[in-house]
Amino acid sequence: CGIVGYIGTKNVKDILLKGLEKLEYRGYDSAGLAIADENQGDTQIVKEKGRIATLRAEADAADLDGTTGIGHTRWATHGAPSARNAHPHQSTSKRFTLVHNGVIENYEELKAEYLADVELVSETDTEVIIQMIERFVTEGHEVEAALRKTLSLLKGSYALALLDTNAKDRIYVGKNKSPLLVGLHDEANVVASDSMAMLHITKTFVELMDKEIVTVTRDGVRIQDLEGTEVTREPFTAELDESDTEKGTYTHYMLKEIDEQPFVIRNILQKYQDDHNEIKLSDDIRSALNSADRLYIIAAGTSYHAGLVGKEIMEKAAGKPVEVHIASEFLYNQPLLSQNPLFIFISQSGETADSRGVLVNVKEAGHPALTITNVPGSTLSREADFTLHTYAGPEIAVASTKAYTAQMAVLSILAMDGAHARGIDTDFDAIHELSIAANAMEVLCDQKDNMEQIARDYLLESRNAFFIGRSFDYHVVQEGALKLKEISYIQAEGFAGGELKHGTIALIEEGTPVIALATQENVNLNIRGNLQEVVARGANPCVVSMEGSHRDTDQVVLPPVHSYLAPLVSVVPLQLISYYAALHRGCDVDKPRNLAKSVTVE
Ligand code: G6P
Repeated sequence: CGIVGYIGTKNVKDILLKGLEKLEYRGYDSAGLAIADENQGDTQIVKEKGRIATLRAEADAADLDGTTGIGHTRWATHGAPSARNAHPHQSTSKRFTLVHNGVIENYEELKAEYLADVELVSETDTEVIIQMIERFVTEGHEVEAALRKTLSLLKGSYALALLDTNAKDRIYVGKNKSPLLVGLHDEANVVASDSMAMLHITKTFVELMDKEIVTVTRDGVRIQDLEGTEVTREPFTAELDESDTEKGTYTHYMLKEIDEQPFVIRNILQKYQDDHNEIKLSDDIRSALNSADRLYIIAAGTSYHAGLVGKEIMEKAAGKPVEVHIASEFLYNQPLLSQNPLFIFISQSGETADSRGVLVNVKEAGHPALTITNVPGSTLSREADFTLHTYAGPEIAVASTKAYTAQMAVLSILAMDGAHARGIDTDFDAIHELSIAANAMEVLCDQKDNMEQIARDYLLESRNAFFIGRSFDYHVVQEGALKLKEISYIQAEGFAGGELKHGTIALIEEGTPVIALATQENVNLNIRGNLQEVVARGANPCVVSMEGSHRDTDQVVLPPVHSYLAPLVSVVPLQLISYYAALHRGCDVDKPRNLAKSVTVE
């Protein structure tokens, strides 16, 4: 979910709607806004099931006026997506209005203890918060004190913004575990889950820490902890420009972001090279890597797939044993750890709640942690000991593309540096090989017609699709299948080439698309053998191979690149094929159903 707020001199409606549009990547099943108008009694609320566009139409039809307001875009956790469950929520007297992002774990207990006599109108945990604030105010607390008291009773995660009809000159905000920033400007102050949402107002932001509340007025902000002690903190300047978050001439962010990949890789090379064109990570990172006897990569979704490739490179180039774990699994089922583990968190957003949960435990246990992220100021970055930035620029499409290739590029740099730090004589020159890979990615980005045709030929009518690969390619087909299913809703699975025959081959029918990756020389004959097995059962094969070991009949042939970096290149055709499949099946490419880009709930 995403939150915005504004208090200033301008009419707030369009400012909030624009901010919410920028936050739609955080969820988009319902949305709402609340505006406090000096000339009206009650706070005015508009909320709707659906996208921000639907909310905009409603808000335009309603006569909304005012210079203070809050807004919310939702990814449902408690209660189905509906106008009733959409935020903002109001207390019974309508005095307080609240937007909330996160999950309150003890809301049932709180309801029973404090609100047994209150009739709640929604099914959300959020309504419990607002009713508790009202209850404590009715009992005689000042609003700030009631807010502090309520928040200190909550278990779980929250970022919230609160309006009070009796004090329309302020917005109260608070956070725990979920991200929230306060933005500063001469004529206004703002609130946002992500600086991107408010770049049209300001680039100066103050970060909030867990269990702090802030009273935001037109002229200033006052931060305090839950005990009421004032806190001071220097603001920072967001390095983003508003144009970084625009689509430009592209019809979809996803296509733009696929095309940006070669530049992202070159950007990474530039950022990680010193004056002598050499890569040398900080001494701290090197020594953490050296002292570790095993690396534990923790991630979710596409970042997990990048971790699988990272493990291969790290083990092969740097000789370090690596385990890769899905964050939500590791969190409640921790494997036996080695003596001196180093944890590596991979996360585009740096906010994924499952990964953050693991990081909290890891820090409690006293283990070192490194975060590889696209958002250096994010929670995972702040709370880890070290950060490596992926420099991919804002990724807006929900399906991750450039963040994935950037993560693998940074992991390959880490592997090479790790090898050097350990005095291992590796012939893997990440700088040289990454620049070759960037050129190869560009060649593939220029073959859009071919990828579009493949999408039409193989995927327009199909119910399902299988992806097969071996070794490095196995990890990439898992990502290829994820891309296809998340945006086109075709059921797609990625398999180890040799494994299909142990069960899943039963699903192959006449015409079933099977996309095979064959970029790895040492298993080339094996994967082609696996392909024959499915072709013999009627599959419609599509082969993505690499120059050198290709066949004339292969549908896509990559320019030659180092086998460790083949994943960066071979994923590009898979991304493009998924894109065109989704496009021609009439799907909403950038905002697939049921998903959110940044999942800040466990
Ligand atoms: C969500 C997104 C995925 C992403 C995953 C992990 O599920 O839809 O695209 O890979 O979260 O996100 P992170 O920001 O931690 O990489």
